[in-house]
Amino acid sequence: EKGTYPHYMLKEIDEQPAVIRKIVQAYQNESGDLTIDGNIISAMGAADRIYIIAAGTSYHAGLVGKQFIEKMAKIPVEVHVASEFVYNMPLLSENPLFIFISQSGETADSRAVLVEVKELGYKALTITNVPGSTLSREADYTLLLHAGPEIAVASTKAYTAQLAVLSILANVTATSLGLSSTIDLGHELGIVANSMDGLIDAKEEMEAIAREYLSTTRNAFFIGRSLDFYVGLEGSLKLKEISYIQAEGFAGGELKHGTIALIEDGTPIIALATQEAVNLSIRGNVKEVVARGANPCIISMKGLETEEDRFVLPVVHELLAPLVSVIPLQLISYYAALHRDCDVDKPRNLAKSVTVE
Ligand code: F6R
Repeated sequence: EKGTYPHYMLKEIDEQPAVIRKIVQAYQNESGDLTIDGNIISAMGAADRIYIIAAGTSYHAGLVGKQFIEKMAKIPVEVHVASEFVYNMPLLSENPLFIFISQSGETADSRAVLVEVKELGYKALTITNVPGSTLSREADYTLLLHAGPEIAVASTKAYTAQLAVLSILANVTATSLGLSSTIDLGHELGIVANSMDGLIDAKEEMEAIAREYLSTTRNAFFIGRSLDFYVGLEGSLKLKEISYIQAEGFAGGELKHGTIALIEDGTPIIALATQEAVNLSIRGNVKEVVARGANPCIISMKGLETEEDRFVLPVVHELLAPLVSVIPLQLISYYAALHRDCDVDKPRNLAKSVTVE
């Protein structure tokens, strides 16, 4: 039920802090430590390479998940779009583990890959919001998102839930491998949830940004480097699917290799700056586009901000920044769609779960 909310999407955006807290609870043991089923952790530890397979928003979560797993658990990860992987499999490693990320657990493109890798005799883990879904039943292991039903076609709380569960998987694996690259994740996810509360309270500001940058534009670009690039891809998907504004996400460093030709007077550029190591370089990219007339909206993280920034996010652990930086992008897309009288919850041409290949 959407209760007093005008749209499921807005309700689901608002639910995100509660979902993060629920996930922490669901994965905690009696002594308060985050844990994962030992069979899954053994499979992670035995893998010489992990292949993440997904589509759409879940693919974008996989791109961030790769960074969690590689940085914390030190296992190499490849992330693949399911519909491409199925007919063009890369050469696989000796001991691969497959991770399927799917909110619905019913995506046919992902299922086609699962059927194939099971035939080859490999182990598979499904990360899904729907217990008993096809991808959950057909995989060896399942991790649940605990996000509650997601009704709006545009995925919001499932994405942040996917990131939270992937971070727990990566951190618990790292602990089991005795690595020093673990973080106090229960504590850090608590900070994330509190920060999300603040962002959700900043709706008026997000509506103002949508009005200022997106009310009449025909296109918009998202730029970022490192984790911010992946969040930009998700932000651009949200914007295009519900507002029908042509939106694209780009790696900051790729701009000069072609994309910059698209910048015109007033073109909105939403730039994310949450990662210290690339803060200066992404700001350099903003200067490049401003020099060509772009209208920049910089969203940075506290501690990295400058005077020109339009919105400053509260500080969270740098690796977990995508869980908070995506929220303004979800809200900006929501308001942009609303201002254009679009059907926010049921955008044209789209279905909630895509059960055809
Ligand atoms: C975007 C969106 C889609 C899905 C994609 C995969 O907002 O909802 O891109 O993410 O169709 O769906 P699942 O995660 O159910 O496999």
